[in-house]
Amino acid sequence: MIPESFIQELLHRIDIVDLVDAYVPLRKAGANYAACCPFHSEKTPSFTVSPSKQFYHCFGCGAHGTAIGFLMEYSGQGFVEAVKELAARAGMRLPEDDAKPHDGPRIQALTEIMASAAKYYYEQLKCSEKAIVYLRQRGVSGEIARKFSIGYAPEAWQNLASAFADYSAAGLQQAGLVLRGEQGRLYDRFRDRVMFPIVNPKGEIIAFGGRVLGAGEPKYLNSPETPLFEKGREVFGLPQARQALRDKNTVIVVEGYMDVVALAQHGVGNAVATLGTATTAIHVQKLLRQADRLVFCFDGDAAGRKAGWRALENSLEVLPEQKMIGFVFLPEADDPDSFVRRQGAEAFERLVAQAMPLSEFLLRELAARCDMTSAEGRAKLVAEAKPLLGRLQTPLLRLQLVKRLAEASGFSQPEVERLCDLKPVARASPARASRPAPSLLRPLLRLLLQKPELARRVPLEALPGHSEEARAIVRLCGMAAESGDPMPGYAALLERLRGSEDETVLREAAAELMRQPYAEDDIDAEFSGVVERLREGERKRLFAQLQEKAARLGVTGLSGEEKEHYLRMLGRRA
Ligand code: UTP
Ligand code: MN
Repeated sequence: MIPESFIQELLHRIDIVDLVDAYVPLRKAGANYAACCPFHSEKTPSFTVSPSKQFYHCFGCGAHGTAIGFLMEYSGQGFVEAVKELAARAGMRLPEDDAKPHDGPRIQALTEIMASAAKYYYEQLKCSEKAIVYLRQRGVSGEIARKFSIGYAPEAWQNLASAFADYSAAGLQQAGLVLRGEQGRLYDRFRDRVMFPIVNPKGEIIAFGGRVLGAGEPKYLNSPETPLFEKGREVFGLPQARQALRDKNTVIVVEGYMDVVALAQHGVGNAVATLGTATTAIHVQKLLRQADRLVFCFDGDAAGRKAGWRALENSLEVLPEQKMIGFVFLPEADDPDSFVRRQGAEAFERLVAQAMPLSEFLLRELAARCDMTSAEGRAKLVAEAKPLLGRLQTPLLRLQLVKRLAEASGFSQPEVERLCDLKPVARASPARASRPAPSLLRPLLRLLLQKPELARRVPLEALPGHSEEARAIVRLCGMAAESGDPMPGYAALLERLRGSEDETVLREAAAELMRQPYAEDDIDAEFSGVVERLREGERKRLFAQLQEKAARLGVTGLSGEEKEHYLRMLGRRA
């Protein structure tokens, strides 16, 4: 557990504007900063960052959060990881031992080593006739080689000794660039290979893939997993694809480095590759943030179909509503590289446009495993679909699949649902009923977000009803009562309420505030005005209650205190 005080301190030290700007160049727009949203595709900027409140909000897609939330969304990291990374940037030590306080500097050192190595390999390519010939043979132009910073690791055993002052430095081994042999001798991992740097969204080089020039084993040698590099999270070609992903709103996932490079060479810029591993849920999640449509493109052979099925299984749980996953299976013996070279970009784009939807691939594969001509076979179809359907979080897609399963199996739709034990899908953030917010509570909520200290002065007894606003206000007041001075700001509140039922309404109020903040000078007066009207409302409600009771039971039915109250109010009204 990371203590809350640490989170507060962290949010205090990190400036969200700097953080976001490093990934998405921001420009000033009034009191805030704006950019085209990195989380959905758009042409005019609706992504806004508030320097004073330290949060971001997209008026287009509703993405909203703090510096921590931004890093999580953008890089696909978990909460703890994101906090660690930010802490390292801010030079803060995580209080717990397991937080590896030295991670920050170590990671930075490794990143620098990788950058130097990449630069070295890149320079070496220029001097290697045979590597240049190899790339040219494969149809890679100088421009594309530069775009992907392709390099070359020469043949000798200790090339990197000329790139680093201390070849025996532990960092080179930790970065996976140098190995220690049985005799204790150090040597380069990558020798006589064309080098493909793997770059993270920040533009940092975190690993390499190296291809032999001709035949030889292994065909591709990859960096080992290091503190910088975890295979299951990363893809090759993401930063290079970013602009094309936005333009096309589709991300194509292929298997090989050269597939990405060859596609880019032919003008298909929106492809990335997994790194010799199956596609993971993290991959899918990360990539679906960059585009609304994800198309896997696998070889047409048995291995390709199997890889496709794994990708499908890993996508189910993380497939959000309104996003689409499709599958392209190339003709046997083709990979995207050979296909695009032979048939051209247009033919490839056509395949992508006509990709088989996930639901269809799922049904086809399952049906192929069952004897659909027998009743037993059709029952087996439903049984096989059951675990897969259970993983889907999207009601619409699930419904669609249930319908198709019903058609294919001859069971009715409710029967399929029952056979598959389908429970209602839990929705991450419930779409809120579009009822008008109680007119006073929304401004009150905004006031509290702008100046959290006010929460100590809210007359809770005067809050009307059971609205989400009321619940969130009560929560904020509770937090205010517990917290010391100064009160945590909005970003810290938002982190504390991460995942709570109050998150949505708070985000909405914060977004409204971002559009129209209160002038600092007016806040106290505004607040007093709202409190006054709340008290007035409370009096009216009480009066209405007493009046109703008096009408029902007569004035004599009221207690002494009630009667006194009622009469006084009557008098005031008269
Ligand atoms: P493929 O064997 O399909 O190679 O591996 P490819 O991409 O078509 O490569 P070229 O066209 O011959 O150059 C697909 C991916 O699997 C990983 C690599 O990421 C490769 O791009 N792989 C493959 C390895 O990591 N190691 C290997 O030895 C082979
Ligand atoms: Mn290939």
